[in-house]
Amino acid sequence: MKINGKPYRTIWPGAGGDAIEVIDQTKLPHRFETLRLSTLEQTAHAIRSMIVRGAPLIGATAAYGMAIALRENPSDEALDRAYDVLLRTRPTAVNLRWALDRMRDTVRNRPRDARAETSWREAAAICDEDVETCRRIGEFGLDLLRKVAATRPGETVNVLTHCNAGWLACVDWGTALAPVYMAHDTGLPLHVWVDETRPRNQGASLTAFELNSHGVPHTVIADNAGGYLMRSRKVDLVIVGTDRVARNGDVANKIGTYLKALAARDNDVPFYVALPSSTIDWLLESGDRIPIEERAGDEVTHISGRTRDGSIAEVEITPAGSPAANPGFDVTPSRLVTGFITERGICSADEAGLRSLFPGTGARRP
Ligand code: MRU
Repeated sequence: MKINGKPYRTIWPGAGGDAIEVIDQTKLPHRFETLRLSTLEQTAHAIRSMIVRGAPLIGATAAYGMAIALRENPSDEALDRAYDVLLRTRPTAVNLRWALDRMRDTVRNRPRDARAETSWREAAAICDEDVETCRRIGEFGLDLLRKVAATRPGETVNVLTHCNAGWLACVDWGTALAPVYMAHDTGLPLHVWVDETRPRNQGASLTAFELNSHGVPHTVIADNAGGYLMRSRKVDLVIVGTDRVARNGDVANKIGTYLKALAARDNDVPFYVALPSSTIDWLLESGDRIPIEERAGDEVTHISGRTRDGSIAEVEITPAGSPAANPGFDVTPSRLVTGFITERGICSADEAGLRSLFPGTGARRP
């Protein structure tokens, strides 16, 4: 997507071919800065500290992290260490494990002197495939939006989304937002309600930044406003992304997603989840066992933003001494999900639906 007219991906190989560059998402929306990552530790830190975040981008960054580690040392030990270090960075998005498994499987049987090159190429392939996958999700989602628009000709379609599942969460396009961009670009009248997504405000900071940069009409709302808007018939459908989908269709996504799904069900608002197949955890029977990241309480007790004089400041919003809990994700049961928008089409949110689009995948691990 474009920033000030210049096309960007969220991650790209740096000059010299021994490092990567990423957009520092902790600085958005007020500053657009890029960062060069040239060691395994820097890459792991970027994922952990959410300089890069969003399930597909976490996977893509980890893939390059492994390639960077193998440039330094192509031994089996270095490969296993890079795998472990990167896998430990964030627990919920299964795209991380998916990318690391793919990298390790590709590299493991290559001679040592070919490993660096092979892994670099594979990481680049993961990125290119993610772009194409998201583009296809966008096309299937566009059909859906067109169908909704056809039921009310000439009226604006109102989409509600939570967190950031746009291009900043992927390599390009996004998952939940890819259909939005395509619809907007084809002239379909559309407006997006953007949940601010406390505590880290991925909606207010990142989704709003994306939509604003692309000229998509949108309105940022407090997380608590969604139920009221749905009840007031001001939301036509909800589209969110996900960090992990269990085999039975249960969906882990940013904390607060479940409440939106409940409100959507109570108001007969369709609730769709957009995902690349790399987000399906075929090994997990249900969402009950999806690991939920617990992050530091200061993300709840403190908030940062731009002050009137233009500087960036962090302020405390709770009384000193009040403890805070910060679960990063929740699980929405599949029964609340209207459908999955994937790179192979739209299916029901259950094992049969997933298997209809991805037959033969998800065999048990040896
Ligand atoms: O903690 P984050 O910002 O990495 O969480 C991101 C989300 O929950 C997204 O909705 C999810 O990764 C889908 S990304 C296409």
